[in-house]
This record gives sequence, C-alpha cells and structure tokens, in this order.
Amino acid sequence: MSVNPLAPSWLSHPDDANELAATVWSQNAARSDEGELVIAGVTTSELVSRFGTPAYVVDEADARSRAVAIRESFDAAFASVGSSAKVYYAGKAFLSIQVARWMLDAGLNIDVCSGGELAVALAAGAEGSRLGFHGNNKSLDEIDRAVSVGIGAIVIDSIVEIERVADAALRHGVVQPVRLRINSGVHASTHEYLATAREDQKFGIPLADAAAVVALIRSRDSLRFLGLHSHIGSQIFESEGFAEAARRLFAVHAELLAGGPVPELNLGGGFGIAYTSVDEALPVEEIATRFAEIVSSGAAALGIPVPVVAIEPGRAIIGPSTTTLYTVGTIKDVLVSDAVSTGAAGDGDAVRKYVSVDGGMSDNVRPALYGADYSVRIANRASQADAALVRVAGKHCESGDIVVHADYLPGDVTPGDILAIPATGAYCWSLASNYNYLGRPPVIAVRNGEARVIVRRETEADLLGRDTGLES
Ligand SMILES: Cc1ncc(COP(=O)(O)O)c(C=O)c1O
Repeated sequence: MSVNPLAPSWLSHPDDANELAATVWSQNAARSDEGELVIAGVTTSELVSRFGTPAYVVDEADARSRAVAIRESFDAAFASVGSSAKVYYAGKAFLSIQVARWMLDAGLNIDVCSGGELAVALAAGAEGSRLGFHGNNKSLDEIDRAVSVGIGAIVIDSIVEIERVADAALRHGVVQPVRLRINSGVHASTHEYLATAREDQKFGIPLADAAAVVALIRSRDSLRFLGLHSHIGSQIFESEGFAEAARRLFAVHAELLAGGPVPELNLGGGFGIAYTSVDEALPVEEIATRFAEIVSSGAAALGIPVPVVAIEPGRAIIGPSTTTLYTVGTIKDVLVSDAVSTGAAGDGDAVRKYVSVDGGMSDNVRPALYGADYSVRIANRASQADAALVRVAGKHCESGDIVVHADYLPGDVTPGDILAIPATGAYCWSLASNYNYLGRPPVIAVRNGEARVIVRRETEADLLGRDTGLES
C-alpha cells in the first residue's frame, strides 16, 4: 500500500475501496453479489439505462423515515418536559412536489423562503397553516400570497416587514401569526461555535433590539406574535452552539412574557450529516433530548413555562437520502511537483488522478462554493484493484469545478464507469444551475425495487425555451 502525499490528513487509505460506509450512504444502498451498487432494490445498470447520467437518485424510504424519526424524537423529548415540538422541513434543502408530500405525510410542516418554494408546497397540497415563510427580503407579492393562503407563520426579518405583513393581513381580514428572527450573535459550524455581541450578517434583528421590535409587532392588531427565531448555521455536530443561542434568546423570551403571550421558540435547523467516513452525525434522538434539556432547564431557571419549540432541519432529512450517479469520461494522471517538500528536486513529486464526469458544479456547487467534501465509489462494479487517490472533477470551464476533492477509488477506474456520490440530497439540486448550458439532471425516486422520475431532466428545448432569439 502506498500512501499518496496529496491525500488530506483526515482521509485514510481504505482496506476496501468498494465499501459503502453505512453512515454516509442511504439506508437502502448496498452492493449486489456481482458488486453493482443497488439502491432500494434498483440496480445501477437499470437506473443508468432508463434515466441516463448525471441523475440524482433519492431513496424514498430513507427520506421518509428520517422525517418521521425526527418528528417522533422531538415529540417524545418535548412531551417528557411537558411541552411539544413543531418540526418544519426546510424546503430550501430540496423541494419538489413529491418530496413535499413525503414530508407532510410524515407529519412535518414545511418552511419556504420564496414565492416559488411556496408554490411548490401548495401544489403538493399543503394547507397554508402547515407552512412557515422565511427570507430577509420577501417581496410584497410574496407576503400577500403567503397571507392569502393562511400561512401558519411568517418570520419577520426586519422592521419594515412589520408594516408590510400587518397591511397584507388587514387587506385579507386575518390576524397573521409571526415570529421575529433574531441575530443572536452565535454562529456555529461543525464542531465550533462563535459567540459575539452581534454577528455581521444580513439576517434578523439584533438581540438588543428585540423587545422594542416585538412591541411594534404587538402594536398591530392584525399580527399575532408567536415567538423568537434563531438559526445559527449549518452542518453542526455539537449541541453547544444551540444551547448558547437558546440561553441568549431565553433571557429576552422571559422579558417578553411580561407584555403578552410568547407561546413558541424557534431554534432553526443546521444539524450535521456525514459526507465522508470521518463525519459523525449526532443521532436525532440525542439532538431531541439535548434540545428538550436545554429548553426545559432554561425555562426552569427563569421560572417560565416551557414553550413549544420549533425546529427547521433540511439537510438532516433529505441529505443522506440521495446519491448522484455520473459517467466517467476522461482520466488524467497529473504530476504535482513538490507535493511534499524534501529539498531534493523531483523527490517530493506526486500524482493526482483526475477523473472527470459528465456533470459537476452545475449539479453540485457545494465543493466549489464552500470547499465541501464528499466521498465517491464506483457504482457499476466492484474491483479488487489497489486503491488510488482520485479527484473527481466536473466538465465545466472552471478549474474549481470539483465534485470530490479527495477519495480513494479502485485504481482501475476507467472511462465508462459509473461513479456514485452519496449524501447529495441537500443543497445540490436546489443550488443547481445551467452553467455551460447543461440541462439540470432528473431526480429519480427509488423504493422497493421500483424507480420513477419525480423531476424530469431538462432538455435542449428547456434550455432554449426562454431565449427569444429564435422568434426574431
Ligand atoms: C432559517 C433557516 N432555517 C433552516 C435552515 C436549514 O438548515 P439545514 O438544512 O442545515 O438543516 C436554514 C439553512 O440555511 C435556514 O437558513
């Protein structure tokens, strides 16, 4: 076994580069006896021959069961402290009509952030009361539509929105429930959190201004104040950041009770998932228990009732469910000079194997946007060839067009092989683009050996459809 010096320190050389780490792959992904990747009973060869590549393949039972598990865990944990929980699925992670229905079936509410996301949730048959509406710059039309469909909660993000939402509610003759988004000064990511007096970001109202802004909300008869909201970040593996945000919000929440009811507290989303074998996501039961402890002890310390707690996970529900399939087109072994500094010319050189696939940053921009890491396996076969360090690149005109910065694949990976990238359910399709005029891939739902298209592939006609040049 030779260790490539270009491998990042967290990535270990695998004993078996065909293995599917259970923490990273969707629950129903496995290899067949022949070595092919099979997802929920559907083989890679069937998926590729029927739907082509690139394609997002979503393990429906996986997504549904995560949604149910998170709701049940929060229901149980908050019932045990004499309260209840409301789980919103954060639609920005990935929303389609089918996915919205899976979430509603699982008993979740849905959080939307634009008129478009609202339209999808409504098209799925969601009642307005099961939706929440976020955004730092909602248009007047978006607010109007949200109020007109009886949306369950609008999260007010700035002072000017108070009047906009109140006026829309008056026009529609309703009393609109609202939350107030707070910039708590806590920002968390992965294992660390940062706590400042005030975070330098566009979302929410500073904690110090909360009481005055809630008074403005309460001064409008067409608004009903539900409570404060905070979202501290994404891909969080530790609960301490949530605890700090809750402590900060709670102090204000308690003060606000003097001026009227504050039935709820919304702690946002951001629970981390495993993208690589070194990521360890917290089990949802543990997150729920910890949240209930944080909130109930905070309430006890202040002598106030435990509020209903709302959460808004997206990634933790849909992220692990989806695998993206690509076809390998070209492979290059690129000599990287002085990958290790030895002092002697040429001694520290290493080879990086670039494996290029038929998609890239247009279907998964996270590696380019955030330096996100993913893992990769050959899907159409297993191989006993020695593992080689690879970088999976896309086909776009950007050198930063990387899908997987570093992982090991069997060294005999070859053009025509199908590569599978797990944990691509969140913020991949929803952030997809048509860069270089690539049509966006389809989303295929697989369940009990059956595959069906839930969002079709974009065609050349779709790509040309909005260009008026052909008409002139
Ligand atoms: C306000 C809010 N709630 C919930 C989420 C969902 O986060 P995640 O998908 O990481 O759970 C986000 C993500 O950006 C958000 O901004």
